[in-house]
Amino acid sequence: MALLDVENLRISFGGLHAVDGLSTSVRQGQIKGIIGPNGAGKTTLFNAIAGIQKLSAGSIRLEGRPIESLQPWQRAGLGIARTFQNLQIFPELSLIENVMIGCHPKARAGFCGALLGLPGVRREERTIEERAYAQLGLLGMQDRALSPAGDLSFGESKLLEIARALAADPKILMLDEPIAGVPAAEQAPVVRMIREINARGVTVILVEHNMRMVMGLCDEILVLRSGRFLAQGTPREIAADPEVIGAYLGEEPAHA
Ligand SMILES: Nc1ncnc2c1ncn2[C@@H]1O[C@H](COP(=O)(O)OP(=O)(O)OP(=O)(O)O)[C@@H](O)[C@H]1O
Ligand SMILES: [Mg+2]
Repeated sequence: MALLDVENLRISFGGLHAVDGLSTSVRQGQIKGIIGPNGAGKTTLFNAIAGIQKLSAGSIRLEGRPIESLQPWQRAGLGIARTFQNLQIFPELSLIENVMIGCHPKARAGFCGALLGLPGVRREERTIEERAYAQLGLLGMQDRALSPAGDLSFGESKLLEIARALAADPKILMLDEPIAGVPAAEQAPVVRMIREINARGVTVILVEHNMRMVMGLCDEILVLRSGRFLAQGTPREIAADPEVIGAYLGEEPAHA
């Protein structure tokens, strides 16, 4: 059974079908790439899987269980995490606070307990903090845990955002252009981190315009054009597919 199944998905904005009858699945342990020209529907697909975009038609299943009626936080609780195409960190909060935001889907003590500062809540806070420190350790940033996130370089901020997504202990991590705008010298740590995350058992879906990164990291690549399935295969198959070359690889993406 696939970890994630998308079937006949359609997402329409007025007359525009941003995703148009798309079916695909993601296997446990994969790093699956999704590529396609600007406006192909990649981010819309992520939004639909994460639950922040209503479906016009179709279904999404996680481990065989339909999730399309679940709220975003319920999907996060089931193990779906993502980062955003436009960086979403809080510059005035510290690194550790930024990561702790991502830990909360598993928090159990509840709102009233938090308001009253009950012992169970304080214990939970400590556990969350420990988990967040562990994530920062993965980045080698534990010693800067209390510095404001606004002090980080752009590449480091992208890493911090990934660490926050990981803090929820996801089964699937969706990364929307993790190296877009990141200077060349800062890209290697992001690539390393994605490999490390995957080696630890997290399935990754990667949207990225940087072909070298996609070809080097992914075991399977889905190509979208105008919201539709264009091709799917290994990096080697995709690089040699004449339709893909015509539709995408032959043209320079707007923000590669
Ligand atoms: N909220 C929205 N309202 C109306 N149209 C939208 C909305 N979100 C996306 N679209 C449109 O849907 C299409 C797909 O957009 P999407 O952002 O998913 O593309 P993408 O593949 O992520 O592109 P890029 O590579 O530029 O990030 C585009 O034509 C876009 O303008
Ligand atoms: Mg996008």
